[in-house]
Amino acid sequence: MNSDPHSTELTLTSPEATCALAQRLAPLMRPGDVLLLSGGIGAGKTHFARSLIQALLEVPEDVPSPTFTLVQEYDTTAGPLWHADLYRLSNPLEAVELGLEDAFAEAICLIEWPDRLGDLTPSAGLCMDFVTVPDQDDTRQLRVTIPGGTRAALKGVFA
Ligand SMILES: Nc1ncnc2c1ncn2[C@@H]1O[C@H](COP(=O)(O)OP(=O)(O)O)[C@@H](O)[C@H]1O
Ligand SMILES: [Mg+2]
Repeated sequence: MNSDPHSTELTLTSPEATCALAQRLAPLMRPGDVLLLSGGIGAGKTHFARSLIQALLEVPEDVPSPTFTLVQEYDTTAGPLWHADLYRLSNPLEAVELGLEDAFAEAICLIEWPDRLGDLTPSAGLCMDFVTVPDQDDTRQLRVTIPGGTRAALKGVFA
């Protein structure tokens, strides 16, 4: 099995395309999986996370952006899920206080602004970097970095 990290890039031409990607990933998610969602404000991180979470909720519910709460927890059909927006985190120690280290091991974690984690960034996290495209309001370039050791089913979504 090839255990080298792998990078790939895809073009998401609409919010619906981003939602469809999230819906393909959702049934593969397991506790311990971490998606590191980077990109500027308005890049589509929350749209992606919301689509993934909604695909895993037994009973539909609102999925607000965790901008102010920093973390929102969900009970999903795939297990506990944490959705975090760390934009306002001033120190990685605050992430420890929030309980994120345990969550990385025990929950499905969708992390916006993962750069705030510093050394706490889980090395097995799958990096998804959303980039806006000039003059194409509905298009996002998505750069994905898949760590070595990621299971084949997850890699397959980006093949
Ligand atoms: N291809 C796309 N993928 C994701 N969002 C898109 C796309 N095209 C347009 N958008 C819009 O961009 C906005 C992204 O907002 P949001 O997900 O809150 O960004 P972020 O969490 O990265 O700050 C939404 O209004 C969404 O409808
Ligand atoms: Mg957001």
